[in-house]
Amino acid sequence: MYVTGAQWVLPGLYRDHFPLLHPDKDGKMVHYLDNSATTQKPEILIQATSFFYQNFNANVHRGVYGLAAQATQAYENVRAAVARFIKAPQAQEIIFTSGATESLNMVANWMGQALLKKGDEVIVSMMEHHANLVPWQQQCARSQAKMVAWLPNEKGELDLDRLQSLITKETRVIAVTHVSNVLGTVNPIREICALAHQHNILVVVDGSQAVAHIPVNVEDMDCDFYCFSAHKMFGPTGLGILYGKKDLLNQVTPFRFGGEMVDIVTFEESSFMPLPARLEAGTPNMAGVYGMGATLNFLKSVTYDAIYLAEQKLMHHMFQLLERMEGIKLLGQASERVPVFSLLFEDMHPGDVAQVLDQMNVAVRAGYHCAMPLHRYYQAGNGSLRVSLAFYNNQEDLEALEEGLKKARKLLVR
Ligand code: ALA
Repeated sequence: MYVTGAQWVLPGLYRDHFPLLHPDKDGKMVHYLDNSATTQKPEILIQATSFFYQNFNANVHRGVYGLAAQATQAYENVRAAVARFIKAPQAQEIIFTSGATESLNMVANWMGQALLKKGDEVIVSMMEHHANLVPWQQQCARSQAKMVAWLPNEKGELDLDRLQSLITKETRVIAVTHVSNVLGTVNPIREICALAHQHNILVVVDGSQAVAHIPVNVEDMDCDFYCFSAHKMFGPTGLGILYGKKDLLNQVTPFRFGGEMVDIVTFEESSFMPLPARLEAGTPNMAGVYGMGATLNFLKSVTYDAIYLAEQKLMHHMFQLLERMEGIKLLGQASERVPVFSLLFEDMHPGDVAQVLDQMNVAVRAGYHCAMPLHRYYQAGNGSLRVSLAFYNNQEDLEALEEGLKKARKLLVR
C-alpha cells in the first residue's frame, strides 16, 4: 500500500484535469495506455488554445498594430518559458518546428549538406525511433558518410564502453535518444556528451520520450542539439522544439525558406535573419505555441518530483501485474527507466491482443512503434504490444489491462 487513506492505491495524478479521461454518463472511460504515441491534453491547454483564437489571433512578427504586437509578445514569452523549462541558456536557442521529426531532420540535413563528407562516421544507437535514424541514413547516403550502429546490451541499456570502442577519428556525430520509446530505458546523455566532446564529436539527442517523465537540463547534459515534440508532453500537436547551442544553430542551414526568415530579398538572392527567425520560415503554429505556455505552467504545478513518485508506483504495480501473467516477456530490463513496457507473447500476436484490449476500452499500441531495427535486433519479428503510462494513469487502468490480457489469453490461446 503506497497511499494511505486514498480511494485508489494509484489515484492517477491530476487525472481530473484531463477531460478525455473522464468517465462518460454511463461511467465508461477510455483506459489510455498509449502515452508514448501522444499524451492527453489538460483542460488548461484546451482553454488556452481557444483563448488565443478568441483574443490574440494575429500573425506574429509582422504587424505593427496592437493585436499583432500582443500575439508576438505572447509567442516570444513562450519561447523564453521553453528555454527556462529545459534550462537552455538563451531563448534564441529555442526554435519552434512542427515536431521532433522536423527538428531532427533540420539538424541532419545541415550536417549532411555542410559537415559530413566521404569516410566520416555517424554513430546511431539501435534503439532510435525512425525519426532519429532515417534522416541519418539519408544524409549519410548523400555525403557518403558511414552509419555505425551502437547496440544496446541484453538489458536494453547503452553501454559507454561499447560507445568508446565505436569512436574513431572519423566519427563526427552521435545520434541518440534520451529515453527509448520501446524499452523505456533512460540513457546517460551527460556521460555520452562528455565522452563525445573529448573527441570533438557532436551529440544530437531525441528527447521526445523524456519530456513527459523526467526534467531536462540541456546545459547540464551539455548536448549540442535536443529535439522534442510538444504533444508528447501534454502539449499541443503540430509543435516541436529544436534546442541547439547558439554557435551551432547559427551555422545550421535553413531547412525551409520563405517569409519572416529573410532580411533583404532581391529577385536573385536573399539574406537571412539572425536566430531564431532564420530557422522559422512561414507562419508558425501560434495557437500551439500559446497553448504550450499553458502546458508548461501546468507541469510546473504538477512538478517532476510528483511525476517521479507517481510513475515509480505505476511501474511497481505494472511489474507485479506482469509477474502474475503467463507467457509474457518484457523487452528491456533497464535499471534507469520510465513506465514504458513493450511485451512479447509466447503464443499470441500483439496485434490480436491489442484488438481484444480495444474491446475493453484499453488503448495500447501494437507493432514496431517506429523502431523496426530494434525489434529485429531483439528478434521480435511480430513486433510487440506497448503499454506506455503517464502520471494520470490509475489503478482502474491497470486493472482493465490485466483483465484484458487474461481475456486475450482465454480467447486466443488454445
Ligand atoms: N513516436 C510515437 C510512438 O512511439 C508515435 O508511438
